[in-house]
Amino acid sequence: MNKRIFLSAPHMGGNELNYIQEAFDANYIAPVGRNIDEFEKQIKEYTGAKYALAVSSGTAAIHLALRVLGIKDGDEVMASTFTFIGSVAPILYERCTPFFIDSDTASWNLDPNLLEEELSQRAATGKKQPKALIVTHLYGQCADIVRIQNICEHYGVHLIEDAAESLGATLNAQHTGTFGKLGIYSFNGNKIITTSGGGMLVSDDEALLSYARHLSTQARDDAPHYEHNEYGYNYRMSNITAGIGRGQMEVLSERIKRRREIFNLYQKELNIIEGLSFMPELPSSVGNRWLTTILLPVHLSPEKIRVTLEKENIESRPLWKPMHAQPLFRDAKGCINGTSDTFFKKGICLPSSSSMNNDDIQRILSLLKPLLNC
Ligand SMILES: Cc1ncc(COP(=O)(O)O)c(C=O)c1O
Repeated sequence: MNKRIFLSAPHMGGNELNYIQEAFDANYIAPVGRNIDEFEKQIKEYTGAKYALAVSSGTAAIHLALRVLGIKDGDEVMASTFTFIGSVAPILYERCTPFFIDSDTASWNLDPNLLEEELSQRAATGKKQPKALIVTHLYGQCADIVRIQNICEHYGVHLIEDAAESLGATLNAQHTGTFGKLGIYSFNGNKIITTSGGGMLVSDDEALLSYARHLSTQARDDAPHYEHNEYGYNYRMSNITAGIGRGQMEVLSERIKRRREIFNLYQKELNIIEGLSFMPELPSSVGNRWLTTILLPVHLSPEKIRVTLEKENIESRPLWKPMHAQPLFRDAKGCINGTSDTFFKKGICLPSSSSMNNDDIQRILSLLKPLLNC
């Protein structure tokens, strides 16, 4: 059997084990320690966010974002429908009501026109506005985030950015995750950099971030006997996994460079195919191209491609099934116009690991091209 090609494999830089060793030497085998402090510092320096909190997952970071904004019990939260469940499950953790917004074709991310129409109509008819909007920058590409930010500000809606997949992606040279009141990144095993599992919450608001830090450590008040006025969570990142993060940050720019090269290689070879298109990049934005994603010509099914590649030990994946189409959210309301449904029906994520060499990509292309009739 040929060597397996994964969709998005972890890719170590080399220094990760040294930082883990450092934690062992200091005996900081705990959710506190130098690796955590340094990793948070690296993220702040890299993204320009003023404050950062390393946590156990991206989902935990989104949950904390809702908690620190006081969003709970029947509050309405709008969200991108074209996303992964981790974006929106925290809405349910807090017993809130989701309202999904469809994608546009220019970014494949949340459509600012649909958002504006909905919020302006609510304003005109005196209908309650949502408390927050969770917008996802999917597959490493920027949503139309400046417009979305302006709309949220105008209608007094808190903006939370799910930049789980888009660390390093920028619009007008500003990092995704830093436009909203709060932003999150994920370091799950398949992300552009990984800590095996982990996340980061960022904000320019010191009070919000220090409250999140408090909630992430079981909301323990400052008393030797552990006083509690409210409940929190055990959401801190381990000092061991933060050591992996420290090493990974040293190679993040290289990882983005390689993912973008891989995207360009696919594009050069496949762009000639009638009816096939690649996930676009908005003007003035630079994505991290975490995954190369394509929409197939009408006559081709993503499942056929997936199965053919899988037979040759190559992993690919359908695009995310939109949240409004998930049985879990069958009763949820939203502004849905079919755009993300089409993406789901016609789209596929191609193997995009930064550790792939050009021969790996040629192996994939040699299977794809006959299927695509070229
Ligand atoms: C868009 C998106 N949001 C949220 C998450 C949740 O992150 P985590 O897996 O670290 O909880 C992920 C990734 O897994 C994701 O891809």
